[in-house]
Amino acid sequence: MVKLENVTKRFNDAGLYGIDAHLPKNGFCTVIGRSGAGKSLLLRTILGLIKPDSGRVLIDDTDIYNVKYKKLKSIRSKFGVLFQNNALLDSMNVFENVSLPVSYRNPDISQNDLKDMVADKLRVTYLSNVSEKYVNQLSGGMQKRVAIARALITDPEILFYDEPITGLDPLTAEGIIDLIRNLHSEIKKTTIVITHDMRGFIDFTDYVMLIDEGRTLFCGTKEDFMDFDNIIARAYVKMAGKI
Ligand SMILES: Nc1ncnc2c1ncn2[C@@H]1O[C@H](COP(=O)(O)OP(=O)(O)O)[C@@H](O)[C@H]1O
Ligand SMILES: [Mg+2]
Repeated sequence: MVKLENVTKRFNDAGLYGIDAHLPKNGFCTVIGRSGAGKSLLLRTILGLIKPDSGRVLIDDTDIYNVKYKKLKSIRSKFGVLFQNNALLDSMNVFENVSLPVSYRNPDISQNDLKDMVADKLRVTYLSNVSEKYVNQLSGGMQKRVAIARALITDPEILFYDEPITGLDPLTAEGIIDLIRNLHSEIKKTTIVITHDMRGFIDFTDYVMLIDEGRTLFCGTKEDFMDFDNIIARAYVKMAGKI
């Protein structure tokens, strides 16, 4: 469970202002908002990377900014993250990129164990045949999948995907949406997709959070969101072809 209570973080002319949210355990949640609304900033706050000026971020009832670093580290180990820019390392091949979170946390792991773990994640992301390739030899969609495989490698409790389909052609985007959906129905872990384009996710998301100019406009079930009488919310619903 991810819970935000009155989270405020001010920069000069942007930030988060009194964000409240409750993203239930094992649900599929889509966080939407315009470019610059504060979505990625919100993500970094949830991940324990940017401390809010005030308010609380709770992961499974633990206030992550009110614990010792060791505890924060153990909470962070529950997260799997697809960053907006993939954050892959060009100087490493697919296998090395995907294995990095494991070899970093557990340098003594045997090569055989590591190979098995990576092979499993490459299989579910349909990358088994490109393990030796360098990431800059791959298409945009495949690079996304490498980053997703890396997010999965630690078997996270909570998966975050920041703008997973932005910049992809429609067919490739559809493949990524299907992958994210299938992973959620198979492993049933809390999944949080951050996107300015909810079209591909609206049919199967359980919860919606809408933020605008650093404020929560809505956080609740998709059904309630569909009935939410707000001009920005209506624009999203309309864009998704639902009115
Ligand atoms: N570390 C930072 N320092 C200053 N401003 C920041 C920082 N991080 C984000 N911002 C500002 O916060 C606003 C929201 O950014 P962001 O969360 O990236 O938007 P989104 O992901 O919704 O497009 C932007 O105006 C951005 O410039
Ligand atoms: Mg962003």
